[in-house]
Amino acid sequence: MKGLLLAGGHGTRLRPLTFRGNKHMLPIANRPLLFYGLDHLKEAGVSEVAIILGPIKEDIEEQIGDGSRFGVKVRYITQGDPKGLAHAVLCARDFLGEDDFLMYLGDNLLEHGAAPYLKRFARGDASAVVGAVKVRDPRHYGVVELDGDGNILSIEEKPAAPKSHLALIGVYLFTPEIHAVIERQKPSKRGELEITDAIWTLQERTHRVRAIQLEGWWKDTGQPSDLIEANERVLASRAAEFFQVKGEIDPHANVSGHVGLGEGGGIAAGATVRGPVILGKNVRIEAGAYIGPYTSVGDGSVIRRAEVDRSILMEHVTIDVPFRIVDSIVGRGTTISERTQLPKGHSFILGDSSQVVL
Ligand code: TTP
Repeated sequence: MKGLLLAGGHGTRLRPLTFRGNKHMLPIANRPLLFYGLDHLKEAGVSEVAIILGPIKEDIEEQIGDGSRFGVKVRYITQGDPKGLAHAVLCARDFLGEDDFLMYLGDNLLEHGAAPYLKRFARGDASAVVGAVKVRDPRHYGVVELDGDGNILSIEEKPAAPKSHLALIGVYLFTPEIHAVIERQKPSKRGELEITDAIWTLQERTHRVRAIQLEGWWKDTGQPSDLIEANERVLASRAAEFFQVKGEIDPHANVSGHVGLGEGGGIAAGATVRGPVILGKNVRIEAGAYIGPYTSVGDGSVIRRAEVDRSILMEHVTIDVPFRIVDSIVGRGTTISERTQLPKGHSFILGDSSQVVL
């Protein structure tokens, strides 16, 4: 079984965070999103992975390299412009050869990874296995309609009038039968080679596409609020070993719950931290500051006075204000401080497409 990990696309819905960087390298619990996909492919027993790169490559190759750090062999395939998920499969045709493969969208996070797909596939009656979960508003997803036995009755991409509440998850297991379908496929109305169309054609041809309904949480991190929720889910589900303390916690600091602190970091006397919280290397939480649950703070950041709750602060962020910051994502090198000169008021230097909620 080979692995195909997608890290292309433009990530427009995550701007301004994706103006400079690739969305798959945004941190969840202080770890790039894409690393979780690699972990899950490895756990599923995949040893060879191709990562699909799009127009924004950022430092994916530099950070993942040949994959040895993750225990898998990684190669890179450039897709360039995002012409659809089935187009990404087409780009990887030579790499995939005649092997079965797990295709994993790099912006998806699954509590239980790809293991349930392999379990279903092991029954030996599937030309593909897809996963679905119930969602409140399915209109933004690929929507699958199933009968009582898990047979697929229909699949539609982002339908205006969904036939079910089951959204297709961004992890798929395919046999090489999918290639003949994709090689003849035509772009959809929005100009993409849709994987949902390919799956539906395969189903019509073989009647052997199997759907599983997944338990546990799943997150498709398309929008900023999804990243905050993913960060919460990951921090909530990590075992105690994840939260190692390598820095210094002052005996007069008020620390409770699971709190991780990187090398060189410090939590001062009079600071309060309530886990689950992960603080990177050289992070300083100073007297009077409060860090609340489900917060990640990147390397080299400093928090004075402020209260920060359920947020993602990236590297080298400085916050020094006497108020509370909630449900926020703060990009690298950002400073939030108090204006001390006249005229009084808030003062901003914001890049394109920034969002401020006061
Ligand atoms: P999307 O979220 O559909 O697209 P996007 O990442 O470009 O985001 P936006 O809509 O905000 O502009 O992509 C789902 C996943 O698939 C994501 O991990 C990127 C990846 N992808 C590719 O690698 N190639 C493609 O051609 C497309 C469409 C997506």
